[in-house]
Amino acid sequence: MEPKTPISWVLRDKKPHDLTKIKEIFSVEQARKARRFHRQIPGYKISPLKALPNLALMMGVGGIWIKDEANRLELNSFKVLGGSYALYRFIQEKLGIPGEDTSFAYLKSKEVRERLGDITFASATDGNHGRGIAWAAKQLGFKCVIYVHSETSVRRIDAIKSNGAIVKVVEGNYDDAVEQVIIDAKTYGWDIISDTSWDNYTKIPTWIMQGYLTMLLEAQEQFSGQGIVKPTHIFVQAGVGALAASVIGYYHSLFGNKAPVCVVVEPDKAPCLYESALANDGKPHTIGGSLNTIMAGLACGEPSPIAWEVLKETADAFITVPDYIAAKGMRVYATPLKGDPFIVSGESGAVTLGAMISILKQNGLEPLKEALNLDQNSQVLFINTEGNTDPIHFRQIIWEGSNPVPKECWSNL
Ligand SMILES: Cc1ncc(COP(=O)(O)O)c(C=O)c1O
Repeated sequence: MEPKTPISWVLRDKKPHDLTKIKEIFSVEQARKARRFHRQIPGYKISPLKALPNLALMMGVGGIWIKDEANRLELNSFKVLGGSYALYRFIQEKLGIPGEDTSFAYLKSKEVRERLGDITFASATDGNHGRGIAWAAKQLGFKCVIYVHSETSVRRIDAIKSNGAIVKVVEGNYDDAVEQVIIDAKTYGWDIISDTSWDNYTKIPTWIMQGYLTMLLEAQEQFSGQGIVKPTHIFVQAGVGALAASVIGYYHSLFGNKAPVCVVVEPDKAPCLYESALANDGKPHTIGGSLNTIMAGLACGEPSPIAWEVLKETADAFITVPDYIAAKGMRVYATPLKGDPFIVSGESGAVTLGAMISILKQNGLEPLKEALNLDQNSQVLFINTEGNTDPIHFRQIIWEGSNPVPKECWSNL
């Protein structure tokens, strides 16, 4: 019998596939358009691409690169890139100028407000997306209502409220919050800005995925500055899969079937993309239950269908990990090896680094390491998708040592 390992995985059957649609949605032109918008937002800065050379040496890979989103537009997460861009595209369309590059200042102008009248934006969230939408709506002077599920922490709710949104708490999990916001938006005439898609609701979630491209355009420019054409591997975390689709779609748009090896990482308590890959019938599959993981941003039971369409064709592997691997990732970031930079990373941000360390150092995971071709030539990209978004939980993990690695899984490093 195979030894039981903390990570489960599905390797995708690599068949050549048609990338035409992916190349359209995630093209460099789309990325530049998104960046032209973001660049005008007061406070926009390129997020750093940080190298951890000493950790890379210890792990036996060529390079570890972290696109660090912990301070993106003062919101501690990459998510604001998608929400703000979708709002921008939505307003442009309402104004009848969808193809233009409209300035941020114009969107805030009295003229625009008068033409548009009152709009209330609404969305469900497990934290960061709602905060980003609330922030963007406030910047542009619109009302916002955000639906969260009953497990959402008070700190996350307060962070959304502090950006001027009304917060409604729904019994159940993230998917229940999505269902409720759809019903209520119909009743009250709100406009939903959701990062997940459903039947006849794909345009806005596509804009959200395109908004994330700013981060990837920056990352590729930063790699070029280091003399690196592209990472050889990418580990990307997933909730509904929009981020992963954007990342993997962009790299396929740039490099076709020579794109980096792409690994989608989910909590073992919310593995909807992994389960969809395992079912191997081409369809997205929903999982139920409380989805009770410390990785709040990844606690989703239903893949976004448009993201799944991309991922089922392009991801190389889908893996699931227990909470303690995310907690370990946070501690590794927070206590760097001598000479490596310190990185503040929350549960959903740190899980990918934790996952790679396990794959490289945990007994029983050698077949996965081999299948992914991880070795001293690998240049591995991670996205630290959030900083300290829930300070109490952050301290419980980093200071108090909650979610420890079980002793039998300690590595001898
Ligand atoms: C910090 C963080 N990382 C990753 C994700 C995953 O993004 P997606 O739901 O698009 O898969 C989220 C989603 O909210 C998040 O908040």
